[in-house]
Amino acid sequence: MSEAKRLAGEKAIDYVEDGMIVGVGTGSTVAYFIDALARIKDRLAGTVSSSEQSTQRLRAHGIEVLDLNATGPLSLYVDGADECDPHRRLIKGGGAALTREKIIAEASAKFICIVDPAKRVDVLGKFPLPVEVIPMARSLVAREILKLTGGQPVWRDGVVTDNGNWVLDVHGLSIIDPVGMETALNQIPGVVSVGLFARRPADVVIVGGEPPLVL
Ligand code: 5RP
Repeated sequence: MSEAKRLAGEKAIDYVEDGMIVGVGTGSTVAYFIDALARIKDRLAGTVSSSEQSTQRLRAHGIEVLDLNATGPLSLYVDGADECDPHRRLIKGGGAALTREKIIAEASAKFICIVDPAKRVDVLGKFPLPVEVIPMARSLVAREILKLTGGQPVWRDGVVTDNGNWVLDVHGLSIIDPVGMETALNQIPGVVSVGLFARRPADVVIVGGEPPLVL
């Protein structure tokens, strides 16, 4: 599967133009993108990173990481996903970086999602939906999620996000209305962000393969 991830990550380089500041996601597929980006780093104006993990990898390659507050809107964001439906709506957050990922996706004119074929689904929800929560609200949010969705929230015990928060993974969902669920879950006090990327889906999905499939 990592070969498919590599092919997807390397294909995304086609979308990088000279002088761009590139938004960079998180995960094993993005790691291949970062390694490919390193080969053209002299053509970049910099990057904005969605996690400490990606920042470390970017800096290890000598690629500059900038603050989103200083860059303003970005032209391009490249990130992976845990699930992707035919409308390019996503579940993300398996790596607990969902909040910063969502911020950069929102700030970007074009969001390229890079996945291996196993991530493609007809209906989102088999992969447990990550929700980042303020620690004191964990139980409250879990009860509300159960009431609202019928799904089973499970605390990702031991994981602290880059923002100092916790993650609930909601099991047993079949998400027929991703925009409605994202909107509803966003309203619960204590929810920082929801790993559904439906209100702002990807613009392009690259499925790794020989050749890569562009959706
Ligand atoms: C991190 C993410 C990742 O994009 C997602 O988990 C996919 O990871 P990988 O490329 O390792 O399969 O959302 O929060």
